[in-house]
Amino acid sequence: MDQTFRFLSQIAIRPLADERVHARFLTDRDLPALLELEQEKWTDVQAASRAQLQARIDAHPDLAVGAFCSRSGRLLASLFMRPVADDFHRCVTSWEDCTLLPSPATGTTLFGISLTSRDQAGVTALLKFFWPYALKRGWRYIYLGSPVPGLRDWMAAHPEGHVEDYVHARRRGLPLDPQLRYYASRGFDRIVSIKRDYFPHERSLDYGVLLRGTVPLSILRPVWSALALPTIQRIAHPLAALL
Ligand SMILES: CC(C)(COP(=O)(O)OP(=O)(O)OC[C@H]1O[C@@H](n2cnc3c(N)ncnc32)[C@H](O)[C@@H]1OP(=O)(O)O)[C@@H](O)C(=O)NCCC(=O)NCCS
Repeated sequence: MDQTFRFLSQIAIRPLADERVHARFLTDRDLPALLELEQEKWTDVQAASRAQLQARIDAHPDLAVGAFCSRSGRLLASLFMRPVADDFHRCVTSWEDCTLLPSPATGTTLFGISLTSRDQAGVTALLKFFWPYALKRGWRYIYLGSPVPGLRDWMAAHPEGHVEDYVHARRRGLPLDPQLRYYASRGFDRIVSIKRDYFPHERSLDYGVLLRGTVPLSILRPVWSALALPTIQRIAHPLAALL
């Protein structure tokens, strides 16, 4: 463990500053901005209500993150997560199931309730911000349910095709579906299961694909739990390319 720590300390050469965007945990004061972003990026059926957003922050304030423009303070992206049992994906059918499951007291698995963004730099900032906290707390896996917005058109062009074929289809080594491709580029490249009637999403024919991302370097759990958060932040900062 000592050797690993020495190695990581040596490559933690200098803090990198991203001055355009900053991320932090969300509070009740962010609700108006969260609602506005929600209404911009989701349909009326899909968007979370003020009460739902508030409930997410209240339940897990340490798993509700926002990214903001440093100059204007405008909210750029939000991410809400909750703890779930490591094998939760075996018994759920829909997104709602995933949000209602009891949260285990211990465990290493998170479910991403929602990611919403109007700026890619916001998502990058969210992930960079949360990573050291995830390492310190021992989170190993993050699951999320992705829409597959290309499915409806693909099925129209391939009436005999199967949803599974589309979900697993690749072009030049990357998923054919644009949103699966997006998530794969963000580290969520493991397709765990395909859920019918997962979430109302027309272009996805209401299908959702449960994806799993592994928190980079979380395999070194004993190292991170022994270190103070500011030390982990110093180590993680220049390693952000791993995200
Ligand atoms: C998915 C999302 C969080 C990505 O945010 P972002 O990091 O700011 O990235 P962008 O929205 O610019 O998308 C990046 C690329 O991913 C692809 N992509 C992502 N979602 C897509 C979708 N629903 N349909 C088509 N392409 C999509 C596009 O190719 C896009 O590339 P482009 O620059 O050529 O348009 C954001 O688009 C969003 O909030 N969407 C609505 C809500 C949603 O679907 N959330 C995820 C549910 S799990």
